[in-house]
Amino acid sequence: MTNLLMMNIQMVDLHSQIAEIREELDAAMSAVLEQGAFVRGPFVAQFEEELSAFYHGAYALGVGNGTDALQLAYMATGIGAGDEVIVPSFTIFATAEAAALLGARPVFVDIDPATFNLDPTLVEAAITEKTKAIVPVHLYGQPADMDPLLDIAGKHNLIVIEDAAQAIGAKYKGRIVGTLGDVGCLSFYPTKNLGAFGDGGACITTDDELAASLRKLANHGAERKYFNTSVGVNSRLDALQAAILSVKLPLLNAWTEARRKAADLYDQALSENELVTIPPRAPYADHVFHQYTIRVPAAARDDLAAHLMACGIPTMVYYPVPLHLLPVFEELGYAEGALPEAERASREVLSLPMHPHLLGEQIRYVAETVAAFSYASVSATL
Ligand SMILES: Cc1ncc(COP(=O)(O)O)c(C=O)c1O
Repeated sequence: MTNLLMMNIQMVDLHSQIAEIREELDAAMSAVLEQGAFVRGPFVAQFEEELSAFYHGAYALGVGNGTDALQLAYMATGIGAGDEVIVPSFTIFATAEAAALLGARPVFVDIDPATFNLDPTLVEAAITEKTKAIVPVHLYGQPADMDPLLDIAGKHNLIVIEDAAQAIGAKYKGRIVGTLGDVGCLSFYPTKNLGAFGDGGACITTDDELAASLRKLANHGAERKYFNTSVGVNSRLDALQAAILSVKLPLLNAWTEARRKAADLYDQALSENELVTIPPRAPYADHVFHQYTIRVPAAARDDLAAHLMACGIPTMVYYPVPLHLLPVFEELGYAEGALPEAERASREVLSLPMHPHLLGEQIRYVAETVAAFSYASVSATL
């Protein structure tokens, strides 16, 4: 192990990724400058076609970011004031925010502690006459248990919107997530598995009517120029981002494989460690490891993070506050203890560095540094 390698451990290493494809990126960006259509135009159309092919022919619409993709999915499926939308409490704010912005009420449901994803066994009890949709989030890159969720949705005539922002390419029982419900939502935020050099996102659907509606709503509700038939938004993937994503998409599967190898190495190196619990892998899931997230007893989690940081290893907590306990949702009336697994996860999770260019030596160094953590000071409270 050289110190140089160890000093360079990052949560996400975009520099190595850029170095791998620098010439192609430069050429793609130059081509956009030459061509001159910066919004819409051939580069966006081409990327949408490539993304559609990646999703086995499903319709793909490039939009401004993942949050917009969610908002557009909610709008296109008719979700609005007074409706209820079932979302896991343990996710990024955007999943619920986009529904709340439209006047819908997020109804928070607890997660399955074995997967960090929406617990299907708790969903039916949350359904009321106002429920319009279920929104599974494939958190950290692992698919939610979709079959029972789709069964419940079918039984109660509910829409299913998949928040697949962290799970591009992940599969559920061999089927690619994002196409299992009515609309799938992607984010191309730079640190995502497929990341732009700015904001970007996409909606995926196999429903032609929804495809047309999404396209219209993302373009000010205009069916054609200056002919607006509804109130929409302005949300577009720009040509530079599309050209960059077209360079990266063909490499995504190889990068996902590299993430899986890194996750396997972490699993091996950490499995004997009594302090940490390695990320669970559901039997139905092909995980794409957007994050490698361990559990650490709550009393030790922040101390371990500080210890790792002192040794040059960054970590992150996704997410420190479950959504039902955020001040913004106070008026919804959830008390502490209402969704115990989401609350416990918020206290216990710790995401370790994860990206396709992580080296085996770096992973072993992370594991050794975790093993060297002395938790004597906290063990009394464990
Ligand atoms: C699960 C999830 N949903 C939605 C989003 C929102 O995406 P964006 O940041 O592109 O708006 C993100 C990423 O930030 C995410 O991780």
